[in-house]
Amino acid sequence: MQTRVLPLEPNPAPAVALAAELLRAGEVAAFPTETVYGLGANGLNEEAVAKIFAAKGRPSDNPLILHIAKTEEIFPLVSEFPEKARKLAEAFWPGPLTLVLPKSAAVPSIVTAGLDTVAVRFPKSDIARALISSCGFPIAAPSANASGRPSPTRAEHVLADLDGKIPLILDGGACEVGLESTVLTLTPKPTLLRPGLVTREMIEGVLNEPVAVHAAVLAEANGDAPSPGMRHTHYAPSAEVYVVSGETLEAMAEKIRRRCAEFERIGRKCAIFATEQTQTFYFSKNYVIMGNRNNPESICARLFALLRGAEGAGFDVIFIEAVKAEGAGLAFMNRALRSAGFKFI
Ligand code: TXA
Ligand code: MG
Repeated sequence: MQTRVLPLEPNPAPAVALAAELLRAGEVAAFPTETVYGLGANGLNEEAVAKIFAAKGRPSDNPLILHIAKTEEIFPLVSEFPEKARKLAEAFWPGPLTLVLPKSAAVPSIVTAGLDTVAVRFPKSDIARALISSCGFPIAAPSANASGRPSPTRAEHVLADLDGKIPLILDGGACEVGLESTVLTLTPKPTLLRPGLVTREMIEGVLNEPVAVHAAVLAEANGDAPSPGMRHTHYAPSAEVYVVSGETLEAMAEKIRRRCAEFERIGRKCAIFATEQTQTFYFSKNYVIMGNRNNPESICARLFALLRGAEGAGFDVIFIEAVKAEGAGLAFMNRALRSAGFKFI
């Protein structure tokens, strides 16, 4: 299969129309959202959804998110829409929040991997919304990477992973958020399954009650992953990745420099993912600036692209600086730790 990459600039309409035509015909297509690129198919068509799993090499026990373009489009997909969900939808939709609710009979079990709940998201991206609206059905879409690779934040990343396996990629440039949406379940109580840029603190502000964080967010899941699919390795780059913390920024940088020197002595090429606040500590080392610590969103936005870049540049070992696991920093730490296979120094 030949994979076409169509630019959305200057006029997105023809490219979006072509993607909608493919999805209506039961095919898949990759498209940008504000978080990461998604690989979409008709979420009510089992055969079409099966093509997503095949193209990504995704294990069939990892459920997908259904994307809608109006809040009321959730009603046919769920058997309950509690008051808390209504409040959250009002506060954060459209945007990077996915709600997990009891599913209705309309949702095929291939989408939910046999679970009795379904994940639903109303994205903010104009392109994603135009595509969903023009299809007239919910679009099932996981991140458009090959299973086990970092989520794609540019069309080039999708092409690198899925060239020849999907017919179309809509190229909308870099995604604004750069990390996948927050996944929140409401039963039995509000619990973050995957942190994102709609933060725990923001959700608590709207619900006026504490929100739990699933144990698998900052530690390796054993038997108790929030969905069977979350037990699988995520964001595993080919380089060896470590997340490094310290009492002070200086102490953290000192640890990184020391480990770096040890690896370099045995001929391994090391990259350091630093921040604006720490760059001066790494003179003469290979470092990149992820963003500003006082603005964790800026760090989130670049993490996945930098992981892919460091691999492409042939680095064997990557040291990622830890940040405070609160606000958007929790989302960052979750993805950094997963890419490191939870190797934390
Ligand atoms: O930002 C995003 O959410 C992107 C864009 C494309 O919208 N999509 C995305 O999808 O990240 P995916 O499939 O890569 O991640 C969906 C996550 C998985 O970890 C899956 O296990 C979880 O949501 N999930 C889906 N349905 C679930 C359910 N019923 N219960 C618990 N977790 C669920
Ligand atoms: Mg994914």
